Amino acid sequence: MSIITKMTRSWLTRSHKPFLFQNEYDKVLPYEECHSLGLYVHIPFCKSICNFCPYCKVRYDEEAAGRYIDALIREIHLVGGQSEGKKTATSLYFGGGTPALLADRLHEIIDAIQTHFVITEGIGVELHPDNVEPNLLRTLKAAGVTKISIGIQSFQTKFQNILGRKTVNRAKIEAALSEVPFETVSMDFIFALPDQSFEDLKTDIDSAFSMGANHVAIYPFIDFTFTSSEVKAMPKRQKRMLLDAITKYCMEQGYKRSSIWTFSSEKDAKYSSMTRDNFLGFGCSATTLLRRQFKINTFSVEEYCKRIDRQTLPTSLTLRFSERQRMVYYLFWTAYSTEVRADDFEQFFGVSLRRMYGFELLIARLLGFVKKRGTVYRMTLKGAFYYHYYENFYTLAYIDKMWGIMRKEAFPAKIEL
Ligand SMILES: C[S@@+](CC[C@H](N)C(=O)[O-])C[C@H]1O[C@@H](n2cnc3c(N)ncnc32)[C@H](O)[C@@H]1O
Ligand code: SF4
Repeated sequence: MSIITKMTRSWLTRSHKPFLFQNEYDKVLPYEECHSLGLYVHIPFCKSICNFCPYCKVRYDEEAAGRYIDALIREIHLVGGQSEGKKTATSLYFGGGTPALLADRLHEIIDAIQTHFVITEGIGVELHPDNVEPNLLRTLKAAGVTKISIGIQSFQTKFQNILGRKTVNRAKIEAALSEVPFETVSMDFIFALPDQSFEDLKTDIDSAFSMGANHVAIYPFIDFTFTSSEVKAMPKRQKRMLLDAITKYCMEQGYKRSSIWTFSSEKDAKYSSMTRDNFLGFGCSATTLLRRQFKINTFSVEEYCKRIDRQTLPTSLTLRFSERQRMVYYLFWTAYSTEVRADDFEQFFGVSLRRMYGFELLIARLLGFVKKRGTVYRMTLKGAFYYHYYENFYTLAYIDKMWGIMRKEAFPAKIEL
């Protein structure tokens, strides 16, 4: 692991203790005490596999997918039944993989969720561009879906070729979106691809908003060590210039920066399954974040179904946080929204942010990474770039290592990060 991530972790957690994930779990999940709970459901099936993609997925097979959905519904009842009455959850997101391959069964999953939870801010589904056609969109809408996110990556054939994907049919997508509208239509792009220019990205973003999107996500390309992608990451200086230029452009257009990588053209357009204080994840590879623990389900579809057949949770590893580790985790993901509110921190931890991290925040202000207004710390352009940059280290040091192991072993004994 990079020396930078190790040193930062030790400094911020005031301890040399690593993040220790062990092969054990609580049979009854302590989520009753959690407020602002998000829900996530993972569907790990794709028609074809993209070689740059790190997510947990397998090639679609009708029989395996059918068994998986049956197991998923049972996992939801297993966990949901642990709380009395219906618990409030902010949102429900379906990710993958390609959840739309099982669009006809989405309503069953949503029904199972709604037996135990009341969702207050809508239901989102991640789509492959091929999924965007009126009949499928109508099926999603009838099941209660209010937000969609389409994995465009780029509208330009040269970048689709680099990624090994085919050219997106823009006319088809535009027509389908105008026939079946959603409250939030988000489009995903990958940035920092070889020789990608500001003009390339600007054209993609303009096209997205003119075709019916009201939200865009621009993810920096990450070269995961376990994927077979040949695409090389862009040098740091070029990447910074590109990110700054595109951020300035979006701000000038009046788009709202809703998180470090996302911009929306309408105030209420939101698509994020990540910036929640707590969340429950269902399905293979899904993670759950609670007040004192983080847990991750097995990546193996077969082992997942076997655990559920035995009426046991499919958890592979659990991390039990020290208080400081939980604070660092909280701050890292909250900063993703580009601001940290001292009042929210204090409400969550019962201690003031200034007392715990006043010194670090002062340094961040002196370095020009954040600005303080009242009790809110807001990231500057410079701060956003360095967050981005550090996030890349974090992703390679932590997620790359963890997912690399989990893809091979269904239940590793432990992982130390
Ligand atoms: C689960 S995938 C998308 C949904 C859908 N299966 C598709 O391919 O269109 C979620 C998003 O992650 C992003 N992504 C995937 N691999 C990436 C990588 N190596 N680096 C950065 N972003 C990546 C892509 O923008 C993608 O749309
Ligand atoms: S990018 Fe999307 S379609 Fe491609 S393998 Fe990943 S989840 Fe599947």
